[in-house]
This record gives sequence, structure tokens and C-alpha cells, in this order.
Amino acid sequence: MKANEIAARFPCDNLTVGENGHLFFAGQDTTALAAQYGTPLYLLDETRIRKNCRTYKAAFKACYPEGSLPLYAGKANAFKQIYRIMAQEDMGIDVVSCGEIYTAKCAGFDMRKAFFHGNNKTDADVAFAMDAGVGVFVADNPEEVLAIEAEAAKRGATQKVILRLTPGIDTHTYAAVNTGKVDSKFGNAIATGQAESITKLALAQEHIALLGYHCHIGSQVFTEDVFERAAVIMIEFMAEMRRKLGFTATLLNLGGGYGVRYTADDPVLDIGEKIASVSETLKATCARADFPVPQICMEPGRSIVADAGLTLYTVGALKQITGYKNYVSIDGGMPDNPRFALYRSSYTCLCANRIAEDCSLTASLVGRCCESGDIIQENVPFPADIQRGDIVAVCTTGAYNYSMASNYNRLPRPATVMLTDSGSYIAVKRETFEDLVRLDV
Ligand code: LLP
Repeated sequence: MKANEIAARFPCDNLTVGENGHLFFAGQDTTALAAQYGTPLYLLDETRIRKNCRTYKAAFKACYPEGSLPLYAGKANAFKQIYRIMAQEDMGIDVVSCGEIYTAKCAGFDMRKAFFHGNNKTDADVAFAMDAGVGVFVADNPEEVLAIEAEAAKRGATQKVILRLTPGIDTHTYAAVNTGKVDSKFGNAIATGQAESITKLALAQEHIALLGYHCHIGSQVFTEDVFERAAVIMIEFMAEMRRKLGFTATLLNLGGGYGVRYTADDPVLDIGEKIASVSETLKATCARADFPVPQICMEPGRSIVADAGLTLYTVGALKQITGYKNYVSIDGGMPDNPRFALYRSSYTCLCANRIAEDCSLTASLVGRCCESGDIIQENVPFPADIQRGDIVAVCTTGAYNYSMASNYNRLPRPATVMLTDSGSYIAVKRETFEDLVRLDV
């Protein structure tokens, strides 16, 4: 295959072809990495993670008032080292559980820059987060407002809070991640009056400092102008609350959601341009409403880590059922990447040690679990004689793979290896069989 034909299959520009016919990722030979660290293996391109953070930081600096902050949504991929990187890049974080809070805290992250999400924080969660010094709570419902007030009152403290609203926007992404609609499980709909009533409730609490609002309209979003539309709805609502309640919100968190390329057919989003466009709409809306431009937060997860990730597997069996279907089986599967099983997500899958060879075989790339749904991708082009021992790379796996991984079939979770300009290091160790039985009595 010609170099340009091979490159045409690549979804991200940190993939290249080595002179030895191997796939290189972040400038390193993936076949050599598979041999060094074993498979299945998650790779993360640290330089790319930092670059993605800097894109957000630069856009925020150019477009938004002092104090505005992009927050990395750790649900995309959380472990200690990634929180250290976020601290070094001067990012805030979005945390959704005590587990994420604990991990970030263990990494020494400054929890004042953490926003605590979730639609059902228990009383224990609220207390744990306050103990950890979480900066801002994103209250999802009236029960939570009261729980935060009660815990803060007990401590004689004042807790900063923003309220999650549902602006009533359909992003036309897949249903599992389409969260901005009025009937969402998250937040308080503006259209039903619930947003206004939770604002009144929060303002009436003695130990809550209400800063503003949050919305998150969805994930893997490419739709042209949804963030602009959300910004208009939110600012207009904020102006209305000032008129009606005399409350001037100073913080608006627009959530996460920008889409990434899983295949070369996916569109390319220029995050800097996107943010500039949202900021123009936002400022114009503020001017029209004579409302002071608030500090802005966003919560990118996928667009920080997805294209920094790649998973390596070793091929076991090639099964050809003539006239029907072909299967390439690998040594991982739905436990390390459940996204096809859950959402039928697209992925680019490549034979990493034979990247320059013609691909005349079409096969389903399947895992090793005792379940037919254990599929990574269907209709993948592979070399006709792909065989046991070949290495398969699945691209763009940095988000929602490790964080959603399980031990189904008692398979240990893979290691995460970070790639830097000077080499590689283990950021998360491979699970062992002892780890698997550690909690068994
Ligand atoms: N903020 C909130 C409140 C969220 O719910 C999410 C994602 C984010 C930020 C980050 O969104 P991102 O920039 O990553 O799109 N497991 C699914 C994705 C679920 C997303 C949930 N919320 C998947 O694998 O596609």
C-alpha cells in the first residue's frame, strides 16, 4: 500500500508509518512497545494530552474573562498521573464520585479547582467532598441543595455552588450521551420553571454561596451551533434571574462534549475556533441583555484524551467461515473497550506490525470473552494472511476505555503506558491475578 493510502486511514496526526513497516504512535514503534510491555496495552501520548489542554487554555485566555477555566472531565480517563498532568497544565477538573476525588487528592491536585458533579450525591459523598476541600459543587436537584446546606451548616462553612440546568437542546448525538433535553435525568429544566425554583431554593440557604449555572448538552457533539445556542439560552436565563430575583450570576459552566475523530470519515473540529465562536455569541448575548460577561468554565473529557490513546492487542485466531464471515480474535475485548458493545462506536483498527501491507480481508475484530457481543469493530480491513502473533492497534481509545473497563471473565485490566518525547513509562500497572482475588474472602 502507498504511504498516502495508509495515512488516509489514520484518524489522528500522531500516527505515522515507520520505515520498518510498523505503525508508529507519538513517534514510537507500537510493535516494539507491545513486545516491551505486553498486550493488551493502553498507550497514552502525553505530549498530545498536554497539547490538547493548551489549546483549551489558550482559547480561554483569548476569549474569556479572568478566572475562566477549562476543567478536565476525569470520567474520560482517571488515574493519579493524569491529575498530576492536569495540575501542571493549570487545568481545573470535573469529578463525579468520591473515587475520582480520592484519586485526584492522592495525586496532590489542588481541590479548590475541582467541580463536583453527579445527579445523586449521597450525604456521605457531600461530606467526603467537603472534607477533601472540593471548590465548587454542581447541585443537580433540590434534595442536593438541601444536603449541601445541611453539611455546610454543620461545619459552620459556606460552600460554593452552581446549579445544573437543562437548556432543552437536542444535540443529535447517540442517546446515551444526549443530556441537554428537557426530559433528561440530569439538571433542572428552564422550560418547566424548575430552574427558577431551584435558584430560589439555593439563594435562600444560609451556607450556600450561589455562583451561577452549569449545563452539559451531550458528548461526541459535532452539530454546528449547539454550544452557541446553549450559551444564548443560559445567558438569557441568567438575565431573567437578575430581573426577577436580583441575583447576578458570575459563573457559567458550559459542560463538555466536543467530538473527536474515531475514523478518517469523522469531521475535524478546531477547538480554538469553536470556543472563539461560542464566546462571540455569548458576549453579544450579554451585551444585548446588558448582563456582565460571567467567568466561563467548560469540561472537556474526550477532546483532551481520546486522540492521545491507542490500544495494542495480539492476534490469536483467524476464523474464516467461507461465504459468511471472518473473525480476527485478540487478547482483549469488551472488558478493556466496551464502547462498540454499548454504543456501536466506530474505531479505526490497524495491523500494527504490517501497516504497509494491502488489506484484502474484511473481518470482525472480536475479543476473547464468552459472549458474542464481545466485538471491538466490524468490517475491518486486514492483510489477507493476518495471523497469530500479529499486533492490532485500535486508535483513539484514550477516552472512556480504561475508565469504563471491567474484569469481565476475570480478565485483568491492561497497563497504561505514557509516551513522552524522551521515551515511555508505566502510569497504571497491569492488573495481576492477585489483584483479581484481593477482595475475595
Ligand atoms: N461534563 C459533564 C457533566 C458530563 O456528563 C460529561 C460527560 C462531560 C463533562 C465530558 O464530556 P466529553 O467532553 O467527554 O464529551 N461513556 C460515553 C461518554 C459519556 C459521557 C458522559 N458525560 C462514551 O464512551 O461515549
